[in-house]
Order: sequence, then structure tokens, then C-alpha cells
Amino acid sequence: MQTLDRRLFLTSAAFLMAGCDQVARGKPPGGPVPPLRSVSPIPVGCCLRTDQFADKALIRLLSRNFSQITPEWEMKMSYLIRPNGQLRFDAADRLIAFAHDRKMAVHGHALIWYKYDAPQFQRLAKDRTAFLAAYRAYITQVASRWKGRIRGWDVVNEPVENMGGSLRDCLWSRVLGEDGYIVEAFEAASRADPKALLFINEYSLEKIPAKRKTFLQLIERLLKKGAKIGGIGTQTHIRNDMPRGQISAAIRDLASFGLPLHISELDISFRLRGGLATNLDAQTETASELVEAFMALPEKQRYALSFWGARDKDSWLMQPPFNDFPGNQPLPFTNDGNPKPMTAAIAEILRQHR
Ligand code: G3I
Repeated sequence: MQTLDRRLFLTSAAFLMAGCDQVARGKPPGGPVPPLRSVSPIPVGCCLRTDQFADKALIRLLSRNFSQITPEWEMKMSYLIRPNGQLRFDAADRLIAFAHDRKMAVHGHALIWYKYDAPQFQRLAKDRTAFLAAYRAYITQVASRWKGRIRGWDVVNEPVENMGGSLRDCLWSRVLGEDGYIVEAFEAASRADPKALLFINEYSLEKIPAKRKTFLQLIERLLKKGAKIGGIGTQTHIRNDMPRGQISAAIRDLASFGLPLHISELDISFRLRGGLATNLDAQTETASELVEAFMALPEKQRYALSFWGARDKDSWLMQPPFNDFPGNQPLPFTNDGNPKPMTAAIAEILRQHR
């Protein structure tokens, strides 16, 4: 039996034996919803940008409910590298200070992403030695800036092609190799900030089993090559009509390496046409399955549960071209800052695992 298959089997067996308190799915406990960070045994995170600092209601909601932040934009290469090649750290420095002042952890996002490169690298594409030196220098400069103040990094974001048929074809892979750019990125990040947990982060791992298989095979290969992967991020941009059991199966598979798992960018979109109550119930059931499966993992594998926004209006899904479903409510709080039924259910599951 292949190593990966054997690992998946063993994890599934352990998971089924561990059992877990089942909060009645879709049935929030009723009564006032406690702040998530006050009942959670694990960090509960949310993404944030500095332009949101002026939104006092949001900042109050964030400070009350979350114990970790992920910079939504201002630690990415597309923000950091200016046209003249200089790096601008102003905004990220403010996010680090914001978190520190509120005793929040920071999850860095994202050092290398297929989606964005920069002219400074494009110009070196034909000179592998110079390109690799610049690549290492960039990662070192960014990751060492907040050395000791970043709990974990998304070192490589979304290395697998959208539907999982192959790995991403990008500037990084073309010059350094499909696996090479990832191994190099983790090596440089590990030297720059040895204490940070280093993650590889991906989306649609729940929705597309073929993508999950490609991703798991990539992780297996990278680990054999000595890549310093310290954790797996599953973005979890999911919908409320996912077949029951599909999320739990994904969590089991992703946990099979024994590495910490980060639910890194959670939002649960409406996709049913049955009206608000139907959508909220299905959203609560989906969220309950996810958090129960996550909390059933061994403690060392429960890195954090992070949402990709706090209130529906803060979501990337409410911006064009993604806002295709009128009335979608993907996030844990309403625009007025009230908790959703799913948030009540999540709080209860977290509380039960304290
Ligand atoms: O703030 C500037 C504004 O000053 C400027 O006028 C405008 C002009 O383009 O850009 C604004 O910045 C935008 C930024 O979000 C802040 O709102 C960027 O253009 C825009 O590209 C950026 O989009 C972010 C996107 O990643 C690309 O970085 C989204 O907010 C963010 O939610 C999204 O998050 C990604 C994760 O990183 C990876 N997983 C998928 C997830 C959703 O796409």
C-alpha cells in the first residue's frame, strides 16, 4: 500500500475512533453568543487591511471575537514591491502593531503566489542563478522583518492549478521548477524566521477531490525532498450546499501527514434557492461539520480557525466579479455585527472542546 494511502487509512480509522461531541448540526444552542475568542481553545482568526482601521464598529467586533489576524493584502508581493523595486512595509508594520496591542497573533500571507510576480523577477527569468538570488533575497527580507512576531506564514499560496489537473505554471515554476520554487521558498523562509510555522495554502480542497489528491501528492513529494513544510492551510471558501461528509473527508485527508492544519480563509456562501432560513440552516450545518471535524483532530494539529472577513459586507465575495448571488451572507457576522446562527453553533462546538 502506497505511503500516502496507508496514512489516509490510518488517519480515517483514528478519526472515526476518536469520535467527537456532536453538536446537533444546524441547531445553535440559543441565548446570547459569547465572543468566539472567549470560548475557543484555539486561535480564531480574521483577515484585515489597514484601510479598515477607521471602521470603529469592525475594529470593536474584531478585537472582541478574534485572537489572530491575517493581512488580507498588505503583506503580499503585489503590495510590498513598488515599481522602483523598493519594498514598502508601512501598512504591514501597522497591522503587526495592531495585533500586538490587542494580544492577537499574526499569520503572514503570502510570500510566494503564482498570481503575482514583479518586473524585478521577470527581467532575471533567463538567468537562473541571478533569479534564485533575488528570489531568496525577497523572501529573506520580508520574512525576517517581523522575525519572532509572525506565528505562521503562508510561504506558498495556491500551487495547484484551479481544478487540480496539474501544478501551477507560473514565473516561479518556469525558472526554478514546479517543486523547486516551493522547496526554495520554504528553505529561505525557514532561515529568515526559524520560529514561524511555515504553511502551504490551497483552495477547493474540500470541493474538488481530484485537486486534493494532486495537492496531497505534492506535499508527499515535497516532504521527501526535505521541504520545511510545517503546516497545511486549507482556505475553505465553501458553499452551504456541499454534500454532508465531504468536508470531514477532506479534513481527514489533509490531517494525514500529522502536520498542523489551518482553516485559513473560511467563508460559507449561500447556494440554495430556498430563501434565507433554508440558507442559514444549511450554512450552520456546513459550519458545524467543518468545526467538529477540525476540533476532533489532535490538539497539535489545530493551528487556527480563520475567517476571510468578519461581516458580510467585508467579504471579497461581495465585490465584483464575485458578487453573483444576491443576498449571499458568507461570513460569521451580519453587517450590523450580529452573530449568525452558524456563529452560535461554532462557538458552542469550540466551547465543548475547551
Ligand atoms: O486598496 C487599493 C486601492 O487603494 C486601489 O485604488 C485599488 C486599485 O486597484 O486597489 C486596492 O487594493 C485592492 C486590495 O484587495 C484591497 O482592497 C487590490 O486591488 C485587490 O487586488 C486586492 O484583492 C485581494 C485579493 O486577494 C488579491 O490580493 C482581496 O482583497 C483578498 O480578499 C483576496 O484574498 C485571496 C487570498 O489572498 C488567497 N485566497 C483567495 C482569496 C480571495 O481571492
